Amino acid sequence: MPVIERLRAREILDSRGRPTVWASCKLSGREPCSTSVPSGASTGRAEAHELRDGDARRYRGLGCRKAVANINDELNGLLSRRSFESQSDLDHALIDIDSTPNKSRLGANALLAVSLSFARSMAASSGIPLWKYFAGLVHADPRTFPRLTINLFSGGRHAGSQVAIQDVLLVPSSAQSIDESLAMTYDVYHSAADLVKQRYGMRLLRADEGGLAPPFRTSEEMIEAAMHAIQKAGYLPGKDFRLAIDVAASEFYCSNRYNLDGEELDPPAMIERLVCWIDRYPIVSVEDGLSQEDWQHWPHLKRAIAARSLIVGDDLLCTNVGRIRRAIDTGAANALLLKLNQVGTLTEAADAYRMARSARWAVSISVRSGETEDDWAADLAVGWQGDQFKNGSITQSERLAKYNRLLAIEQETKWPFINWPETGSSER
Ligand code: PGA
Ligand code: ZN
Repeated sequence: MPVIERLRAREILDSRGRPTVWASCKLSGREPCSTSVPSGASTGRAEAHELRDGDARRYRGLGCRKAVANINDELNGLLSRRSFESQSDLDHALIDIDSTPNKSRLGANALLAVSLSFARSMAASSGIPLWKYFAGLVHADPRTFPRLTINLFSGGRHAGSQVAIQDVLLVPSSAQSIDESLAMTYDVYHSAADLVKQRYGMRLLRADEGGLAPPFRTSEEMIEAAMHAIQKAGYLPGKDFRLAIDVAASEFYCSNRYNLDGEELDPPAMIERLVCWIDRYPIVSVEDGLSQEDWQHWPHLKRAIAARSLIVGDDLLCTNVGRIRRAIDTGAANALLLKLNQVGTLTEAADAYRMARSARWAVSISVRSGETEDDWAADLAVGWQGDQFKNGSITQSERLAKYNRLLAIEQETKWPFINWPETGSSER
């Protein structure tokens, strides 16, 4: 049985220059393996607690020295020289030691860094790739790649909130491989950059996830611009590229109203607007179309668009089994956006994954807006047979580390894409 010899942690900086947690785990007789954890900006209310130092004189309170010390001191003290039969054994020990419902004592960032570095050490000690180790955790036998959903334009919190909705993403639907998806997207990204320059006189400036963020006046204008960029690059919208949107509606919802680019919409009007977009544009995936608090209207949204689009819950679900159960029981969604740091350990994320799959939901494996150069998310997207992988744009090294990892796995395996999930069944 593997024995943990030593845990180590340090504070590093993420893609926004903010502190985050890096940890390494050394199993007896093995080399240490390390991972680092990401961080969000439009975080869901039910996410596990990301521990920050709160010292306003250092990184405006965002330091992670406490989380790091929790690994170096308490967790290293309690876990080293102990043997763990499995990932779930280790993760349950972490949960027990923390002993709070949302990991607020030691920090979900500290716990996830340990959970993941243990995973990487276990994979290395068995001589298998990380995706294979991840697959074992959910008894999967991957033979496919997820479709990429690639950030083209950003609004909301990932840009200057110039428009309400957060992301317009490209789905390179006629591509036959990851390699082809990225090459096609490069064409569209650069035709979008040209368009931004002509229309808005803006040089290439990028938002948090590497998307372009010119001063669009409305969310429709942002979606229209994506359509034009696809066409200008010589592709057919609806055939070569479909679209996905992350509405991130919790960010502009208040007192039962959606403030969409200056318009006050009640929930039925917001649903109508989404339906209207799906009528006009080839949108096949709508994430957080309504607020995380608007449970009442999610089933209406689902009934209205499920025949044509996935209804993906991010803030609504927070990779949390209690919330996923509620969404299944009330017919609120048909797809889970899965982010490990929303829940804090691999084992709890695996439970969320299994619950979503048991309801025949689609799963989109997602990174965060604040990322690092670590590439484990690509292995997770393959190992857990994601239907989609949401990794931001095709610029910036923290994004490219994951795409490059997918290219490497593709070169080894030559697997095809997973079939795009069937929508249209009221059961989903
Ligand atoms: P976040 O955003 O990482 O800033 O929370 C990503 C998303 O909303 O999907
Ligand atoms: Zn989201």
